[in-house]
Amino acid sequence: MKIPPVKGTRDFYPPEMARHNWIIDGWRKASLRSGFEEYDGPIFEHLSMYQLKSGQEIVEQLFSLQDRGGRDLAIRPEITPTLARMVNQRINALPRPIKWFAVPRLCRAERPQKGRLREFFQWNIDIVGEDSGQADAEIIFTTLDYLRMVGLTPRDVQAKISSRRLLAAVLTSIGIPAARLEALYAVLDKKPKLPPETFDALLAEQVPDTYQAEKIRALMALNSIEQIAGIVEPNEALAQAVDELRTVLDILNAMGMGDYCAFDPSIVRGLAYYTGVVFEVHDIAGELRAICGGGRYDNLLRDFGGPPISATGMGMGDCVLEILLEQRGLLDKQVPKRELEYFVALADPQAIRSVYEIAARIRSKGRSAGFSYRQGGLSKQLKEAAGQDARICVIVGQEYRDKRQVVLKNMGTGEQELVDVEQFLSRLGS
Ligand code: HAM
Repeated sequence: MKIPPVKGTRDFYPPEMARHNWIIDGWRKASLRSGFEEYDGPIFEHLSMYQLKSGQEIVEQLFSLQDRGGRDLAIRPEITPTLARMVNQRINALPRPIKWFAVPRLCRAERPQKGRLREFFQWNIDIVGEDSGQADAEIIFTTLDYLRMVGLTPRDVQAKISSRRLLAAVLTSIGIPAARLEALYAVLDKKPKLPPETFDALLAEQVPDTYQAEKIRALMALNSIEQIAGIVEPNEALAQAVDELRTVLDILNAMGMGDYCAFDPSIVRGLAYYTGVVFEVHDIAGELRAICGGGRYDNLLRDFGGPPISATGMGMGDCVLEILLEQRGLLDKQVPKRELEYFVALADPQAIRSVYEIAARIRSKGRSAGFSYRQGGLSKQLKEAAGQDARICVIVGQEYRDKRQVVLKNMGTGEQELVDVEQFLSRLGS
């Protein structure tokens, strides 16, 4: 009986693994060059950790389990709650600002679709202990720095930036009670994914007043911060939120990322814990789901029993990113091809032990080397070498027995060179 893979999961055969590793290497590089340090946590946590603050959508997508002691656990659907727990645990020992990154494997029981699976990898960068817009700008910069590094330009992707504080200021000033904001955010976040009639119906459930609903629709459609003045009267909270957002956009301009960024008030984010600047990166064509998303979450550490310390961060999955990189031909161009540096071939059946010895000595120099397990004729071995994408064949034949010489055959050009084996090995370094 053949057992199929579980729905929404992936098998990483070597070519897929090579792509995956290349993506993760890039995430690490971008994190390190912006000064983030790597951390990780367990793959399961107490179920209550996600019920506390992640929001209804994530709770419905949990893979939960019970351990033998009857404790309710869940496989992590995100790592932000783990980060909050870990930071709280050592809060006095950690120098601030805390700049951490992680690349966890996550599980969400979503309906699998293009760019959304049940198991995926997610790059996270977070800054804890810094409440200025500089930290938000650093998060967005590092995200875009990675996307630019892998070859995506402002013609391919855009960071859509908004602020929940700004949204709250507008919504409360049109008369929406603060207690209803969270439920309303969940509806607004779904807007791009829903047909207009469905969105309107959901909005009417939350906001029955047609004047208020109209204002909300107008707000969602704005494309510059200045236009907000046309929707609501200025007030203190709004002015502060606008200032904060302007600071972030200004820093991103100074850091050379202005072309990638735009204000977009329809960005609300699905998770319940965001409190300030929020953003998502989308493909320009708008064909795919968000490449990544993040924002400020100033209350999460406090809600997890820690001190009131501000935080901001971002999560980027590997699925939509990979689809986009593939579409743009950026994977084929950049993912390193499988390559064996040396293939040691046997042209003299009596020299087999020398093949083992030479291959091992090449490997001890930190270079890759292989040989055939079959010991067929030389032409068969050269074919095998080509099949393994070997660059150079080291042919051990009669000359080796007579003069300790081997033939180096360049598999690309076909050129051959007879060299002393010790000289060849010393060329490889120590
Ligand atoms: P999120 O919006 O739930 O945020 O996920 C962020 C990103 O993870 C998405 O934009 C997408 O790239 C990827 N993602 C989410 N679900 C799936 C899925 N089922 N399959 C494939 N990719 C997926 C968070 O998780 C926040 N914890 C991010 C964060 C970190 N905010 C602050 N710090």
